[in-house]
Amino acid sequence: MEQSENALWGSDWPHVRGLWSLDPSVAHLNHGSFGAVPVPVQKAQEELRGKVEANPVKSLARSLTRELDEARERASDFLGAKADGFVFVPNATTAVTTVLSGPFIKTGDEVLVTDQGYGAVRYAAERVCSERNAQLVTCPVPLPTKGPDELVEAILSGITNRTRLAIVDHIASPTGLVFPISKIVKSLHEKGVLVMVDAAHTPGMVGVDLKVLNPDFWTGNFHKWCCAPRGSAGLWVREDYRKSIKPIVSSWYLSEEYPSSFRWLGTDDYTPYLAVPAALDFMKGLGWERVRQHNKALAQYGRDTVDEATGLDPVMPGLEAMFEAMSLVRLPDGKVRSDEDARALQARIANTLGVETAPIAWNGGGYLRLSAQVYNSPSDYDRLADGIPELLKI
Ligand SMILES: Cc1ncc(COP(=O)(O)O)c(C=O)c1O
Repeated sequence: MEQSENALWGSDWPHVRGLWSLDPSVAHLNHGSFGAVPVPVQKAQEELRGKVEANPVKSLARSLTRELDEARERASDFLGAKADGFVFVPNATTAVTTVLSGPFIKTGDEVLVTDQGYGAVRYAAERVCSERNAQLVTCPVPLPTKGPDELVEAILSGITNRTRLAIVDHIASPTGLVFPISKIVKSLHEKGVLVMVDAAHTPGMVGVDLKVLNPDFWTGNFHKWCCAPRGSAGLWVREDYRKSIKPIVSSWYLSEEYPSSFRWLGTDDYTPYLAVPAALDFMKGLGWERVRQHNKALAQYGRDTVDEATGLDPVMPGLEAMFEAMSLVRLPDGKVRSDEDARALQARIANTLGVETAPIAWNGGGYLRLSAQVYNSPSDYDRLADGIPELLKI
């Protein structure tokens, strides 16, 4: 198929591809890491910055609180939540650190993370556990898995009567696997465990309804699958804990209650938050259902095409439904054993084939995580599939 076509999206794909300023000579198959901001959303942010530069004092001292409240309304509504539980934070890392810094973990407690959790989140949990004489428990989660129930059981098997908090991914970073998050939250609550859902990849990739999910703490990035400017994420806190949660940066409104305490954390560029509504409008304009169906189908196409090229076994045959816009393919044994190997392979694939990918070293195995966003077409994955056997000398 020509690079100017994408039958999985439809005849208007060349127009849609043109809405992103991504270098057309590169196949961008790693949306999952840092997202990509469409031109109309870039322009919306430029306008917001222009307003600030026209009168910084008016913008930052007098208009910002109201503008942030309006953006919080839109963003929280998108997540099925009320704005009184929601604050903007720059990224999921900050949100997790904010929750861990709260007064929830005490000496002797256990904090559970999984071995598919995000590395930086594990470091944050390790740090707080060591400061408070608590214990970090890393619970192994099988890959391949037999299905959603096995994931729930794996997580529950790590719970003891000392587990205070579990940090569970909705969509895992190293594997792209979508966890049965509602069942996990419910089961952990039945055991009296607080749950922080690390939903860094969730907003935009799948629907979110926080009213129904009702975790204790939740974070998700707008700068990944909603295509908002980088530095825009949300933290949602259940009512019971709002009185005790504080921003990690102490500033003017520290003594106020959540969410007001988060509204100014020092002089900064707040336009990524203010541009979230523009990103939501843009993606809604493409059609969320169309976007999600396309991305899932294209991620599957990518996985099947690359699996066929390498001749290696699929990671989870028959369980495609457990993945959405990111898929996972196996790499030959020994090719990627460490994060350093993964970085080196990423650079080699990019420099040799002109393809951006996410090689992953996970539990002794090497994988490639392939993302699919509407600016991608099947030819992007064909390019990778054509070049990878020679590059890996399979
Ligand atoms: C599951 C998960 N948690 C947290 C993060 C951190 O996100 P950020 O860099 O926006 O803080 C990521 C980033 O990819 C992630 O995949």
